[in-house]
Amino acid sequence: MSASVEHPSTPGERVFRVTPGGTLRGEVRVPGDKSISHRAIMLGALAEGDTEVAGFLEGADSLATLGAFRAMGVEIEGPHDGRVRIRGVGVDGLRAPEGPLDVGNAGTAMRLLCGLLAGQRFSSTLVGDASLSRRPMKRVTEPLARMGARVETTSAGTAPLVIHPTEALTAVRYDMPMASAQVKSCLLLAGLYADGETCVSEPAVTRDHTERMLVTFGCPVRSDGATVCVRGGSRLQAAPVEVPADISSAAFFLVGASIAQGADVLLPAVGINPTRIGVLNILRAMGADIELTNQRDCGAEPVADLRVRSTRLRGIEIPMDQVPLAIDEFPALFIAAAHAEGETLLTGAAELRVKESDRIAVMAGGMAQLGIETQVLPDGIRIQGRAGASWHGGIVDSHGDHRIAMSFAMAALGADSPIEIRDCANVNTSFPGFASLAAGTGLGIEELGA
Ligand code: S3P
Repeated sequence: MSASVEHPSTPGERVFRVTPGGTLRGEVRVPGDKSISHRAIMLGALAEGDTEVAGFLEGADSLATLGAFRAMGVEIEGPHDGRVRIRGVGVDGLRAPEGPLDVGNAGTAMRLLCGLLAGQRFSSTLVGDASLSRRPMKRVTEPLARMGARVETTSAGTAPLVIHPTEALTAVRYDMPMASAQVKSCLLLAGLYADGETCVSEPAVTRDHTERMLVTFGCPVRSDGATVCVRGGSRLQAAPVEVPADISSAAFFLVGASIAQGADVLLPAVGINPTRIGVLNILRAMGADIELTNQRDCGAEPVADLRVRSTRLRGIEIPMDQVPLAIDEFPALFIAAAHAEGETLLTGAAELRVKESDRIAVMAGGMAQLGIETQVLPDGIRIQGRAGASWHGGIVDSHGDHRIAMSFAMAALGADSPIEIRDCANVNTSFPGFASLAAGTGLGIEELGA
């Protein structure tokens, strides 16, 4: 069976065609955590000694970070089956790259690298793809300027970022206006090059992978409530890093298995860092059947095996304190909400508008194509759930946003006819092999143009 194609896709475009009627069953090993993979390369490069990474995400985003460090003279072996060996050059050992560092679609690479490069004695330029070149960068360049960094953006405050050399940065105390782990991490990395203690306070808890990994690499991090501080001149010592499976990638299966009929999925060794488990908290509040077993530590990060089975979900008002803890999982959660009994209301999530796409507008547009009723709010969305009834199929444009493409793929489990999803190439940024893994688990997904 195939979707009726009203607008043929452009040649070479990656398209997912997903037929309804599937379910999800069995063990699903999702790839390594993207946030942790980026940081493993960055801190491994700045450390003294060799860092061995296992479970590294071989997706375009983290590979872009790896490529950027190679371009700055760092020897990196791999990845081979998720294994990477980084020959650290020390905090002051990076070399000037010969050309611009192209980080593609990766916001984490651009913002974290911007902080790290602001402290170097050489100039550098960071460029990205069309989506990344539209995303706001003043949120990092403004606080960096207070530290004495000289970073130029376009007049719109976007990339390319031209970073001029500095002798030394000045330590600052910075109150972040928005909850952003990328901004926090950018400033902590810049803080390694500052003359004193740099402290960053966040308005709400965000992912703390940078802090955990700095400690693993022997760099003292001082935390005081919502404030975290590093001292300039700290050195890093190489340490092994085992990357957990990415809860943001597991999220598609958590939602898919919750809304499919007769689903039962086991997701082994998924990261359950408390700053990332908003998706579990929200789905459970909606009535999802998710069991955590075999909880253990994977280096500095907690992991568990997640078992999820079909259930009847109910709509909820999403607690605002969960928003930063689930910030990447909302596209998938919107699909869960569409399948729930009653209304789901999300507010306090304006940050979703400046992700790889405007995730509120693009998800609402795609859901409208399937006949799902929503009301878009400036900082969120209201979704009318259909209490287990199916929606219709159709053609949905992901706008090149990986998480939107994968969310609509799972939406086919609640549809009565095929869904065709356009512009899916960027699924490779975070989840290479998604379509074949999902197909092997029972989703009726076909990938065209790959
Ligand atoms: C990330 C932080 C979040 C998240 C992104 C990864 C990180 O971005 O959306 O996918 O690795 O630090 P913000 O800091 O912009 O919220």
